[in-house]
Amino acid sequence: MIQPMNSPLRFDVLSLFPRTVDSFVGESILGKASARGLIEISSHDLRDWSKGKHREADDRPFGGGAGMVLKPEPLFDAVEELSRPQSTVIYMAPDGDPFTTQMAKELSISQHLVLISGHYEGIDQRVRDELVHREVSIGDYVLTNGSLAAAVMIDAVSRHIPGVLGDDESLLDESFEDDLLGCPQYTRPAEFRGIKVPEVLLSGNHEEIARWRHEQRVQKTRSLRPDLSTNTQTIRN
Ligand code: ADE
Repeated sequence: MIQPMNSPLRFDVLSLFPRTVDSFVGESILGKASARGLIEISSHDLRDWSKGKHREADDRPFGGGAGMVLKPEPLFDAVEELSRPQSTVIYMAPDGDPFTTQMAKELSISQHLVLISGHYEGIDQRVRDELVHREVSIGDYVLTNGSLAAAVMIDAVSRHIPGVLGDDESLLDESFEDDLLGCPQYTRPAEFRGIKVPEVLLSGNHEEIARWRHEQRVQKTRSLRPDLSTNTQTIRN
């Protein structure tokens, strides 16, 4: 029986600077994945849902204070227009849950992600309370342009979708797979400025190479990121 094709994961990004996302996702592996129909990415200018004469999507915070806050009306209208029952609405925010490989894998089997990006301001809390399913931070720092965070998430999620990475760009052995960091990589020439590539990599012995790589990953993780893994106890024989 011919299996029906799964529909591609769709990302809709809501932001004040949608071109930031467009310019990033049109390039390289994501650009190719979109052209091949493996993912669909659409970015939207929040001002398109503003009813104001000047298309305002933000306003000053009640109670005073610096900065602006994204208004609830355009966000509610936009999210309600774009969402379907199976959509997950994610607010990219520095105070959200830390984004990890595990989360990227989980999200890669979604059908539709609606990503809300802020810009040097927060969003009205009612949006967070009523519309948003998950709040996600890409790190403990604050960006001026939350579209960058959305672009990072799209990139990291998409590479877990089968077919997005070519055969050359394997997910195996890279950082955070198995809770280990990646191993050192070398290419030609075998000797450069007197520095030689580790002999084992030139040996052609795939078992030895796999063992060496695993050991390197364990040692690197143990010294740089001991918090990551209990796998650093085990060196494969
Ligand atoms: N918007 C601003 N800073 C951010 C961060 N660190 N993560 C996600 N979204 C953000």
